Amino acid sequence: MPFVKQFFNVKKFIDLIVKKNYNKNMLEIKNLSYSVEENSGRKDILKDINLTFEDNKLYVITGHNGSGKSSLLKLVMGIMQKSSGQIILDGEDISNLGITQRAQKGICYAFQQPVTFKGLKVKDLLDIAAGQSHNLAQMCDILSKVGLCAKDYIDRFLDDKLSGGELKRIELAQALAREGKINMFDEPEAGIDLWSFENLTSLFDNLKKGITIVVSHQKRILEIADEIILLSDGRVVGQGSGKKMLPLLDDKSCGRLRRD
Ligand SMILES: Nc1ncnc2c1ncn2[C@@H]1O[C@H](COP(=O)(O)OP(=O)(O)OP(=O)(O)O)[C@@H](O)[C@H]1O
Ligand SMILES: [Mg+2]
Repeated sequence: MPFVKQFFNVKKFIDLIVKKNYNKNMLEIKNLSYSVEENSGRKDILKDINLTFEDNKLYVITGHNGSGKSSLLKLVMGIMQKSSGQIILDGEDISNLGITQRAQKGICYAFQQPVTFKGLKVKDLLDIAAGQSHNLAQMCDILSKVGLCAKDYIDRFLDDKLSGGELKRIELAQALAREGKINMFDEPEAGIDLWSFENLTSLFDNLKKGITIVVSHQKRILEIADEIILLSDGRVVGQGSGKKMLPLLDDKSCGRLRRD
């Protein structure tokens, strides 16, 4: 029965396309605002942010100090709670969920200022991040991506004896270990020396799994972005491809719009 056979082949093909699109991750931010109350009155930190992030793309958020970049990532992670608006992951409004629930949904945030954990070793952090234990080869694979040799670091305690750059790399490594749907890195270059910086750039360039959002002021990271988002005083003031956005950004301090 060739007709029946053909029908099932077509159906299989359509299912495959639908499933492929259905499996694509998407993060939508709708009319998101964040304000705090201070003695002097209300301070609006993020104002009516609307953004869409698609799968397998690298987004770089830039903007001057205090423009709201970290606040935006913290709202997505659930570290801070929005004042109004919605954060929608794959069609589900997650803006009222806590950090743990969002982490379980695959959202991951590497802090601008890495945190230390008393009594915890590097290997424990990687295991907790991934929800499974790693062998030495797996640890080596993850840590080498951030320029660290596993055997020198896995038994080190996560305390202030680690240098700022080492802590920053371990913070990045735990984000890689988690393999989330949405990986957010807040100024990953901070404290990283120039040699490792080259590796860091290629790391993001090759990280094509899920949605990657990087906050950065560095031109070389901006250059590899699929899309650049410019924040200023809590608002999105520019958005688009590197080709469109890079000429608008000031060379000396990427993140500021050229004034000429
Ligand atoms: N809980 C809070 N209370 C008062 N002000 C806050 C609070 N959280 C953030 N801010 C202020 O909101 C503004 C945005 O802060 P945020 O950390 O998001 O900036 P940023 O763009 O990440 O800056 P940087 O480039 O320096 O990291 C800053 O002026 C900051 O002082
Ligand atoms: Mg910040």
